[in-house]
Amino acid sequence: MSTEHLRGRFQKDTDRVAARYIASIPFDQRLYRQDIAGSIAHARMLGRQGIIPEGEAEAIISALAEIREEIDQGQFHFKVELEDIHMNIEARLIEKIGDVGGKLHTARSRNDQVALDLRLFCKEAIGETVRGLKGLQAALLDVAEANIDVIMPGYTHLQRAQPVLLSHHLLAYFEMLQRDVLRFRDCLARTDVMPLGSGALAGVPYPIDRDFVAQQLGFSRISQNSIDAVSDRDFVIEYQAAASMAMMHLSRLAEELVLWSTEEFGYVDINDSFASASSIMPQKKNPDVAELARGKTGRVYGHLLGLLSGMKGLPLSYNRDLQEDKEGLFDTVDTLHASLEAFTGMVRTLRVNARRAGQAAEGGYLLATDVADYLVRKGLPFRQAHSVVGRLVAYAAEKKRALSHLGLEEYRRFSDLFEADVLQMTAGASVAARSVPGGTAPDQVRAQVARARRAVNDE
Ligand code: ARG
Repeated sequence: MSTEHLRGRFQKDTDRVAARYIASIPFDQRLYRQDIAGSIAHARMLGRQGIIPEGEAEAIISALAEIREEIDQGQFHFKVELEDIHMNIEARLIEKIGDVGGKLHTARSRNDQVALDLRLFCKEAIGETVRGLKGLQAALLDVAEANIDVIMPGYTHLQRAQPVLLSHHLLAYFEMLQRDVLRFRDCLARTDVMPLGSGALAGVPYPIDRDFVAQQLGFSRISQNSIDAVSDRDFVIEYQAAASMAMMHLSRLAEELVLWSTEEFGYVDINDSFASASSIMPQKKNPDVAELARGKTGRVYGHLLGLLSGMKGLPLSYNRDLQEDKEGLFDTVDTLHASLEAFTGMVRTLRVNARRAGQAAEGGYLLATDVADYLVRKGLPFRQAHSVVGRLVAYAAEKKRALSHLGLEEYRRFSDLFEADVLQMTAGASVAARSVPGGTAPDQVRAQVARARRAVNDE
């Protein structure tokens, strides 16, 4: 069987090349569970409303369940001549139960059917995405907690700026991922809309019960405009936009892990099980998981741009261009989920080199702001204090010495407000002093870890 039975008005068969070009079955077979769930709910509604006899609805429903089983078992033969998942399943239904199977498509079009399948798919994907994000958040919290007091240099412009807690730095990624969780949940609200009943575009001339179908399929609402319902892919774009942002966050973390695991930084060691070897240089341990996530981020952005561009010139309502929504979406979902899973393992097994990180934070001029704040506490306006310490740093740099290696009389050459206690300054005291909400002081970071744990565990 092929879609030739639909070609009543044509005088020629479909060209083989054209048939292959048009077909979506190679990729939309992934939607078979959603398609069958939608058809079962639709058939049940048709029977309940007396649009088809209830016994026939029952026959359709049990045959659809058998077809699902056949596909589950890999025993279903998908045919490219049948174009898509919808026609493949319908053809098999008719093969199994005869003409009664032909009644399933009453009061329905492939246009509202595919919109339904895709919404069901996205709803499930969002659930899994949120679970993946939370898994990575939990791993970040574990590493932060296990290394809660480790100090490292904080950077701006990738120049050493001020000492921070490494746990505080990791919690910055927790916050990004938390916004991702909220974004995906927000996107779920607009995905959770049931389009069936829109027909091809204008609605259907049967006494259907859309709310019953919505309730059967676990949707909270039905769509309000049939023309919009068959042509809307905003929910796919929103998923892809949220996924692009989540990948961007992973990519930034990737970049830092690549940097931190170099011999130059040496703040972390990526576990052997998440690193690769070089085929020529025996000493190498490459952070390929991190690098690939950085690389795959571009691909996910590409899918977002692809669909946005595909939609911008489309007249209402359904156009076949819309079939191009699927491969990008599927690849986005798979790439994001695989990246989250790999990162969760990589982060969980990360070893922190507290000594290297701490040394980097103690040396040099990271305490310059603290020295300026010291002068402010002695009564100097901050701008003047900044300038005094600027000159002090220039002096120390000239002599190739760290601030901590200068003597009191050298400090006093720049301001007589300096006293012996200026020599007591440490990176530890610097972070402890920043005890504002959201600051890097250990008491604040501990409170943030506790708050973050609660957020991960909420539903
Ligand atoms: N395979 C199509 C898609 O993915 C299903 C809808 C086809 N509708 C149509 N009128 N040809 O969008």
